[in-house]
Amino acid sequence: MKSVLITLLIVSITVMAEDRIALDKKAKAEFLDLNFFYKGRGMVVTPDMIKFYDALKTTGVGTQVDEQISKRWGFNTHDNKIVGLFNEPYKKMAMGVLGCVACHSGKAAGEFVIGLGNKNMDVGQVGSDAYIAQLLWGSLPRKNPEFKIAHKRAMEFVSVIKNKNINNLSQGLVPTSLVKSWFYDVTDTPIPLKFGRGQVKIPHLWGYGEKRKTGSFWDGFADGVLPGWAVAVELRGGQTPENIREYLDKVHHAEDALGHFFPPKYPFEINTERAARGKHLFNQTCYKCHGTYERDSEGLPLFKSPKFIPHHVVKTDSERLDFVSDSFLELIDINPLNDIMRYKDRAERRGYVAPRLWGIWSRFPYLHNASVPTLMDLLSPGSTRPVVFDLNDAGERERFDEQNLGLKVNRDKKSWKYKMMAYQAKKGKRSIYDTSRDGHGNQGHEFKFYKDLTLEDKKDLIEYLKTL
Ligand code: HEC
Ligand code: HEC
Repeated sequence: MKSVLITLLIVSITVMAEDRIALDKKAKAEFLDLNFFYKGRGMVVTPDMIKFYDALKTTGVGTQVDEQISKRWGFNTHDNKIVGLFNEPYKKMAMGVLGCVACHSGKAAGEFVIGLGNKNMDVGQVGSDAYIAQLLWGSLPRKNPEFKIAHKRAMEFVSVIKNKNINNLSQGLVPTSLVKSWFYDVTDTPIPLKFGRGQVKIPHLWGYGEKRKTGSFWDGFADGVLPGWAVAVELRGGQTPENIREYLDKVHHAEDALGHFFPPKYPFEINTERAARGKHLFNQTCYKCHGTYERDSEGLPLFKSPKFIPHHVVKTDSERLDFVSDSFLELIDINPLNDIMRYKDRAERRGYVAPRLWGIWSRFPYLHNASVPTLMDLLSPGSTRPVVFDLNDAGERERFDEQNLGLKVNRDKKSWKYKMMAYQAKKGKRSIYDTSRDGHGNQGHEFKFYKDLTLEDKKDLIEYLKTL
């Protein structure tokens, strides 16, 4: 009898684990194909322009175009396709539509990971290039009256994105000012002079089922249990609040699916002795903010909600926090979707969520503004961290630094290559991260116990973090 029960237990546990693995696979496959194009609106470019791209693809020019699109704009390519760019039919037109996965997938050490943030996406560059392309494309003679309407909307969308006062200054950072500006437009409020860019790294999405309870976004400011915020970008694209209400079930489904995502496993060898020592250290210091990490009986991660940490404790760059002004909060109160897009009531608002660290090996460069290329740098004093570094091919194998864990960067300040990079950074080159740019500061996350950490301690900690 006892053995039957045990067998039953083992069978049910295995089924549960298989279920979790199957759910992760299914959720990721769905997400790869997901977009919220609806009734002609969403994140869309000018009609039929996508046909032109498809035509180029069938000629030899196509591969070069793809390379341009991934190098200059930061899109990922996977299986020879641009990730997250869709061709949707609408009233006899072909609509180029941007899906969530364009931003919410990325590469690390050469592996393509759904749910990781795109490390190179450059919204500002896409905006200024697309503006010119759409202007030219729209000036050709057309018969379809629907074209004009859709074209006008697409032009409005890119006009906001290309605005140099509010968009991102580097690849891999997305200006949340885009979403913020929608709240001003919809309430007919003029955009104040000091608007901010609110530039952030695109966050990983695994564990979001628990994360949303603390609050959505890097600062946890949004009430993530409500379904509205995840599709806020669609509103900026020209979607209407009424249409969003019509597809809310789809939004619910998509958000719930994110809760099934697993982090990617570290693809290289791990020194288990070091990792064990690192775990011990972690559980004496880091756990206070980042929690502890348990697995189910099959070794799969058990997700938990992260903690909110006031800014005066973590002291990382504050541009993203200054950006959430009182007048912005007032506009959130009166926005037409205020039943599903609300901010969280919190006594202390200024601060960042200490993210849970599953899959942290893949989430470099680190911090909300991607300002620190490796974990070794993050565990070292701010004054020693790299001040400029190259983002080209950041997710490829040759850019992966196994020792320091993260992005391999040039640290030889005397080399001509470094000098060249620093020169280009000064000129504003977008594929180079320059910590002197607005919102790019690499300070903070430097605690009292750092001075007690020896080099060996740091190596142990890094080895442990590889296991998460
Ligand atoms: C242009 C790139 C981009 C696109 C497209 C995009 N996102 Fe995001 N997403 C971001 C950025 C950047 C953030 C973080 C913003 C912040 O923290 O201020 C984010 C945050 C999120 C979060 C909250 C994560 C967390 O840890 O709190 C969810 C959920 C999310 N996005 C879902 C979606 C869905 C669903 C779509 C498709 C409708 C989508 N995103 C499209 C860039 C994008
Ligand atoms: C006092 C609280 C606190 C302690 C202690 C702490 N952290 Fe953090 N950590 C944070 C906060 C808050 C953030 C987010 C800051 C930001 O993005 O600007 C963060 C961010 C990080 C990130 C970047 C995450 C990402 O997605 O880019 C890593 C990695 C990290 N911490 C590792 C550690 C390790 C390892 C330790 C122990 C040696 C540690 N932290 C100790 C609060 C803390």
